[in-house]
Amino acid sequence: MAALRLRIYILVFCACLVIQCSCYGHSVLQKKHAALFIFGDSLYDPGNNNYINTTTDFQANWVPYGETFFKYPTGRFCDGRLIPDFLAQYAKLPIIPAYLQPGLNNYTNGVNFASGGAGALVESHQGFVIDLKTQISQFRKVEKQLRHKLGDAQAYTVLSEAVYIISIGGNDYLSPLASNFSNEEYVGLVIGNLTIWIKVTFFFYA
Ligand SMILES: *[C@@H]1O[C@H](CO)[C@@H](O)[C@H](O)[C@H]1NC(C)=O
Ligand SMILES: *[C@@H]1O[C@H](CO)[C@@H](O)[C@H](O)[C@H]1NC(C)=O
Ligand SMILES: *[C@@H]1O[C@H](CO)[C@@H](O)[C@H](O)[C@H]1NC(C)=O
Ligand SMILES: *[C@@H]1O[C@H](CO)[C@@H](O)[C@H](O)[C@H]1NC(C)=O
Repeated sequence: MAALRLRIYILVFCACLVIQCSCYGHSVLQKKHAALFIFGDSLYDPGNNNYINTTTDFQANWVPYGETFFKYPTGRFCDGRLIPDFLAQYAKLPIIPAYLQPGLNNYTNGVNFASGGAGALVESHQGFVIDLKTQISQFRKVEKQLRHKLGDAQAYTVLSEAVYIISIGGNDYLSPLASNFSNEEYVGLVIGNLTIWIKVTFFFYA
Protein backbone atom coordinates (compact mmCIF):
# COMPACT_ATOMS: atom_id res chain seq x y z
CA MET A 1 0.00 0.00 0.00
CA ALA A 2 2.80 2.39 0.99
CA ALA A 3 4.71 1.39 -2.14
CA LEU A 4 1.66 2.04 -4.30
CA ARG A 5 1.19 5.47 -2.74
CA LEU A 6 4.86 6.24 -3.31
CA ARG A 7 4.48 5.23 -6.94
CA ILE A 8 1.49 7.54 -7.27
CA TYR A 9 3.50 10.37 -5.73
CA ILE A 10 6.29 9.69 -8.18
CA LEU A 11 3.83 9.77 -11.06
CA VAL A 12 2.37 13.05 -9.83
CA PHE A 13 5.85 14.47 -9.42
CA CYS A 14 6.77 13.47 -12.98
CA ALA A 15 3.59 15.05 -14.32
CA CYS A 16 4.52 18.31 -12.58
CA LEU A 17 7.95 18.23 -14.16
CA VAL A 18 6.44 17.77 -17.60
CA ILE A 19 4.12 20.73 -17.09
CA GLN A 20 6.98 22.86 -15.86
CA CYS A 21 9.15 21.80 -18.79
CA SER A 22 6.45 22.65 -21.29
CA CYS A 23 5.82 25.98 -19.55
CA TYR A 24 9.51 26.71 -19.66
CA GLY A 25 9.63 25.83 -23.35
CA HIS A 26 6.68 28.14 -23.92
CA SER A 27 8.37 31.11 -22.22
CA VAL A 28 11.53 30.52 -24.28
CA LEU A 29 9.37 30.63 -27.43
CA GLN A 30 7.72 33.83 -26.25
CA LYS A 31 11.08 35.50 -25.80
CA LYS A 32 12.09 34.55 -29.33
CA HIS A 33 9.14 36.25 -31.02
CA ALA A 34 9.41 37.99 -34.39
CA ALA A 35 9.28 41.77 -34.64
CA LEU A 36 6.31 43.41 -36.39
CA PHE A 37 6.92 46.30 -38.81
CA ILE A 38 3.86 48.16 -40.06
CA PHE A 39 3.43 50.49 -43.05
CA GLY A 40 0.31 52.07 -44.47
CA ASP A 41 -2.61 54.45 -44.19
CA SER A 42 -5.40 55.15 -41.68
CA LEU A 43 -6.30 51.46 -41.46
CA TYR A 44 -2.98 50.92 -39.62
CA ASP A 45 -1.97 54.39 -38.29
CA PRO A 46 -1.59 54.23 -34.47
CA GLY A 47 -1.13 58.02 -34.17
CA ASN A 48 1.82 59.06 -36.35
CA ASN A 49 -0.29 61.90 -37.77
CA ASN A 50 -0.51 63.41 -34.27
CA TYR A 51 3.11 64.46 -34.75
CA ILE A 52 3.05 65.99 -38.24
CA ASN A 53 1.92 69.36 -39.51
CA THR A 54 -1.39 68.46 -41.13
CA THR A 55 -5.08 69.24 -40.90
CA THR A 56 -7.80 67.67 -38.74
CA ASP A 57 -8.95 65.75 -41.86
CA PHE A 58 -5.91 63.54 -41.41
CA GLN A 59 -5.97 63.27 -37.62
CA ALA A 60 -8.10 61.24 -35.24
CA ASN A 61 -6.96 62.72 -31.94
CA TRP A 62 -10.39 63.61 -30.60
CA VAL A 63 -13.32 61.76 -29.05
CA PRO A 64 -15.15 59.48 -29.79
CA TYR A 65 -12.01 57.96 -31.39
CA GLY A 66 -10.37 55.54 -28.95
CA GLU A 67 -13.27 55.43 -26.49
CA THR A 68 -13.85 51.66 -26.32
CA PHE A 69 -10.38 50.29 -25.67
CA PHE A 70 -7.73 52.90 -24.91
CA LYS A 71 -10.28 55.25 -23.26
CA TYR A 72 -8.66 58.25 -24.94
CA PRO A 73 -8.10 59.27 -28.58
CA THR A 74 -4.73 57.80 -29.57
CA GLY A 75 -4.80 58.98 -33.18
CA ARG A 76 -6.22 55.67 -34.46
CA PHE A 77 -9.08 56.18 -36.93
CA CYS A 78 -11.15 53.80 -34.85
CA ASP A 79 -13.00 53.72 -31.54
CA GLY A 80 -10.93 50.70 -30.46
CA ARG A 81 -8.00 48.70 -31.78
CA LEU A 82 -6.78 48.27 -35.35
CA ILE A 83 -5.67 45.08 -37.13
CA PRO A 84 -1.97 45.56 -36.18
CA ASP A 85 -2.98 45.80 -32.49
CA PHE A 86 -4.77 42.43 -32.69
CA LEU A 87 -1.88 40.85 -34.63
CA ALA A 88 0.54 42.04 -31.93
CA GLN A 89 -1.70 40.62 -29.22
CA TYR A 90 -1.94 37.20 -30.91
CA ALA A 91 1.84 37.21 -31.47
CA LYS A 92 2.32 37.96 -27.74
CA LEU A 93 3.97 41.30 -28.53
CA PRO A 94 3.15 44.57 -26.81
CA ILE A 95 1.14 47.10 -28.82
CA ILE A 96 3.50 48.31 -31.56
CA PRO A 97 4.09 52.06 -31.10
CA ALA A 98 3.96 54.89 -33.62
CA TYR A 99 7.41 55.63 -35.07
CA LEU A 100 7.01 59.37 -34.37
CA GLN A 101 6.05 58.87 -30.73
CA PRO A 102 8.56 60.97 -28.77
CA GLY A 103 11.22 59.10 -26.82
CA LEU A 104 10.93 55.84 -28.76
CA ASN A 105 14.32 54.18 -29.31
CA ASN A 106 13.86 50.43 -28.90
CA TYR A 107 12.77 48.78 -32.15
CA THR A 108 13.38 45.12 -31.28
CA ASN A 109 9.62 44.37 -31.23
CA GLY A 110 9.09 46.39 -34.42
CA VAL A 111 7.51 49.79 -34.99
CA ASN A 112 4.60 51.31 -36.91
CA PHE A 113 5.18 53.88 -39.70
CA ALA A 114 1.60 54.09 -41.02
CA SER A 115 0.02 57.51 -41.68
CA GLY A 116 -3.67 58.23 -42.22
CA GLY A 117 -4.33 59.45 -45.76
CA ALA A 118 -1.05 58.13 -47.19
CA GLY A 119 -0.84 56.48 -50.58
CA ALA A 120 1.69 54.47 -52.56
CA LEU A 121 2.33 57.58 -54.70
CA VAL A 122 3.99 60.67 -53.18
CA GLU A 123 1.35 62.88 -54.87
CA SER A 124 -1.50 61.41 -52.79
CA HIS A 125 -2.46 63.98 -50.12
CA GLN A 126 1.06 65.35 -50.57
CA GLY A 127 2.12 67.67 -47.74
CA PHE A 128 -0.49 66.34 -45.32
CA VAL A 129 0.64 62.74 -44.76
CA ILE A 130 3.74 60.57 -44.46
CA ASP A 131 3.89 58.94 -47.89
CA LEU A 132 5.16 55.40 -48.43
CA LYS A 133 8.53 56.67 -49.67
CA THR A 134 9.05 58.57 -46.40
CA GLN A 135 7.82 55.61 -44.33
CA ILE A 136 10.47 53.47 -46.06
CA SER A 137 13.18 56.06 -45.37
CA GLN A 138 12.15 56.00 -41.70
CA PHE A 139 12.47 52.20 -41.80
CA ARG A 140 16.00 52.67 -43.22
CA LYS A 141 16.88 54.71 -40.12
CA VAL A 142 15.51 51.94 -37.89
CA GLU A 143 17.62 49.40 -39.81
CA LYS A 144 20.70 51.54 -39.22
CA GLN A 145 19.96 51.93 -35.52
CA LEU A 146 19.44 48.16 -35.10
CA ARG A 147 22.76 47.45 -36.86
CA HIS A 148 24.46 49.96 -34.62
CA LYS A 149 22.95 48.47 -31.44
CA LEU A 150 22.98 44.75 -32.25
CA GLY A 151 25.68 44.41 -34.90
CA ASP A 152 25.14 43.51 -38.56
CA ALA A 153 24.51 39.78 -38.05
CA GLN A 154 21.97 40.04 -35.24
CA ALA A 155 20.21 42.99 -36.87
CA TYR A 156 19.91 40.89 -40.05
CA THR A 157 18.42 38.04 -38.00
CA VAL A 158 15.86 40.33 -36.34
CA LEU A 159 14.89 41.93 -39.66
CA SER A 160 14.75 38.72 -41.68
CA GLU A 161 12.63 36.96 -39.04
CA ALA A 162 10.35 40.00 -38.72
CA VAL A 163 6.80 40.20 -40.04
CA TYR A 164 6.01 43.15 -42.34
CA ILE A 165 2.46 44.29 -43.00
CA ILE A 166 1.37 47.01 -45.42
CA SER A 167 -2.05 48.55 -46.03
CA ILE A 168 -1.81 51.19 -48.71
CA GLY A 169 -3.26 52.13 -52.10
CA GLY A 170 -6.82 53.22 -51.36
CA ASN A 171 -5.96 56.90 -50.96
CA ASP A 172 -4.25 56.97 -54.36
CA TYR A 173 -7.66 56.61 -56.01
CA LEU A 174 -8.88 59.81 -54.29
CA SER A 175 -5.97 61.82 -55.74
CA PRO A 176 -6.58 64.46 -58.47
CA LEU A 177 -3.62 62.88 -60.28
CA ALA A 178 -5.90 59.95 -61.15
CA SER A 179 -7.92 62.13 -63.55
CA ASN A 180 -4.83 62.60 -65.79
CA PHE A 181 -4.60 58.88 -66.57
CA SER A 182 -6.82 56.12 -67.87
CA ASN A 183 -7.96 53.71 -65.14
CA GLU A 184 -5.57 51.03 -66.44
CA GLU A 185 -2.62 53.42 -66.55
CA TYR A 186 -3.31 54.70 -63.07
CA VAL A 187 -3.66 51.23 -61.54
CA GLY A 188 -0.32 50.50 -63.23
CA LEU A 189 1.31 53.49 -61.50
CA VAL A 190 -0.08 52.60 -58.06
CA ILE A 191 0.72 48.88 -58.25
CA GLY A 192 4.04 49.65 -60.01
CA ASN A 193 5.25 51.96 -57.24
CA LEU A 194 4.06 49.63 -54.49
CA THR A 195 5.84 46.69 -56.16
CA ILE A 196 9.09 48.64 -56.53
CA TRP A 197 9.06 49.72 -52.88
CA ILE A 198 8.37 46.20 -51.65
CA LYS A 199 11.14 44.77 -53.85
CA VAL A 200 13.86 47.28 -52.99
CA THR A 201 13.04 47.30 -49.30
CA PHE A 202 12.19 43.76 -48.30
CA PHE A 203 13.74 41.34 -50.80
CA PHE A 204 17.05 41.64 -48.96
CA TYR A 205 15.35 39.96 -45.97
CA ALA A 206 13.20 37.46 -47.88
C1 LIG B 1 2.19 73.86 -41.29
O1 LIG B 1 1.53 73.87 -42.54
C2 LIG B 1 0.96 75.15 -42.88
C3 LIG B 1 0.13 74.97 -44.14
O2 LIG B 1 0.79 74.20 -45.10
C4 LIG B 1 2.09 76.16 -43.02
O3 LIG B 1 1.55 77.42 -43.31
C5 LIG B 1 2.86 76.21 -41.68
O4 LIG B 1 3.97 77.08 -41.83
C6 LIG B 1 3.33 74.84 -41.26
N1 LIG B 1 3.90 74.92 -39.94
C7 LIG B 1 5.06 74.36 -39.63
C8 LIG B 1 5.49 74.48 -38.21
O5 LIG B 1 5.75 73.75 -40.45
C1 LIG C 1 14.41 46.45 -26.05
O1 LIG C 1 13.24 45.67 -25.96
C2 LIG C 1 13.49 44.28 -25.88
C3 LIG C 1 12.16 43.55 -25.98
O2 LIG C 1 11.22 44.10 -25.10
C4 LIG C 1 14.26 43.96 -24.60
O3 LIG C 1 14.53 42.58 -24.54
C5 LIG C 1 15.55 44.75 -24.61
O4 LIG C 1 16.22 44.56 -23.38
C6 LIG C 1 15.29 46.23 -24.82
N1 LIG C 1 16.57 46.92 -25.01
C7 LIG C 1 16.88 48.02 -24.35
C8 LIG C 1 18.22 48.61 -24.65
O5 LIG C 1 16.12 48.53 -23.54
C1 LIG D 1 -2.93 66.98 -65.12
O1 LIG D 1 -2.32 67.36 -66.35
C2 LIG D 1 -2.40 68.76 -66.63
C3 LIG D 1 -1.88 68.98 -68.03
O2 LIG D 1 -0.63 68.36 -68.25
C4 LIG D 1 -1.57 69.51 -65.58
O3 LIG D 1 -1.63 70.91 -65.80
C5 LIG D 1 -2.15 69.19 -64.19
O4 LIG D 1 -1.33 69.78 -63.19
C6 LIG D 1 -2.22 67.69 -63.95
N1 LIG D 1 -2.92 67.43 -62.73
C7 LIG D 1 -2.34 66.80 -61.71
C8 LIG D 1 -3.18 66.62 -60.50
O5 LIG D 1 -1.19 66.37 -61.76
C1 LIG E 1 5.55 55.75 -59.57
O1 LIG E 1 4.72 56.87 -59.49
C2 LIG E 1 5.18 58.01 -60.20
C3 LIG E 1 4.19 59.09 -59.91
O2 LIG E 1 4.22 59.29 -58.52
C4 LIG E 1 5.30 57.70 -61.68
O3 LIG E 1 5.83 58.83 -62.37
C5 LIG E 1 6.20 56.49 -61.86
O4 LIG E 1 6.22 56.11 -63.19
C6 LIG E 1 5.71 55.33 -61.01
N1 LIG E 1 6.62 54.20 -61.09
C7 LIG E 1 6.21 52.97 -61.40
C8 LIG E 1 7.26 51.93 -61.45
O5 LIG E 1 5.03 52.72 -61.63
